[in-house]
Amino acid sequence: MDLGLSGRVAVITGASRGIGLATARLLAAEGATLVLCARDASRLKEAAAGLERSGAAVVPVPGDVLDPELPGRLTQAAGGDGRVDVLVNNAGGDSGYLGFEKLADADWEATYRLNVVAPVRLIRSVLPGMRRRRWGASSTSRPTPPGCQNRSACPTPRRPW
Ligand SMILES: NC(=O)c1ccc[n+]([C@@H]2O[C@H](COP(=O)([O-])OP(=O)(O)OC[C@H]3O[C@@H](n4cnc5c(N)ncnc54)[C@H](OP(=O)(O)O)[C@@H]3O)[C@@H](O)[C@H]2O)c1
Repeated sequence: MDLGLSGRVAVITGASRGIGLATARLLAAEGATLVLCARDASRLKEAAAGLERSGAAVVPVPGDVLDPELPGRLTQAAGGDGRVDVLVNNAGGDSGYLGFEKLADADWEATYRLNVVAPVRLIRSVLPGMRRRRWGASSTSRPTPPGCQNRSACPTPRRPW
């Protein structure tokens, strides 16, 4: 597949394993340069080394998406804010499957910070450059709402619009 990403710079959060790492492999195969983040530095380094062995250009940036300074560090690593062409806001999650009734306000607030505030901060940091160059793509993983065993049991509609 040629998605026209050769030479583009892609930032992927939560990229040391799972969906984030699989996305990194796909974007590397498309010729994109990768800026990858996750909290566990050694695991991230291992993931980056694996991608590099297959020929990818990778910059690992260990960090937590909850850290307000992470967007600046990621855009720096990408070579300045104008350089990020693709943002994959993959890191996210919930408070675990406690059951809806057991979730406290703090669980909802933590979930909101991780899945909404953190991705918004990252989008805000790359958007000016994408607008200037009139090119860019951003995707955000939507987690299962906290306390839900599966999506069909969730109280939120699938399509709120
Ligand atoms: N798997 C599914 O069926 C499914 C379904 C719907 C949505 N999703 C969403 O898709 C995303 C990825 O899921 P997955 O199953 O691939 O997860 P995973 O295998 O648990 O991998 C999570 C990745 O995110 C990193 N991470 C977690 N918290 C982070 C944080 N605060 N800051 C930076 N990096 C962080 C982890 O590394 P560290 O722990 O080292 O930070 C790891 O690299 C999540 O947002 C999830 O909610 C998954």
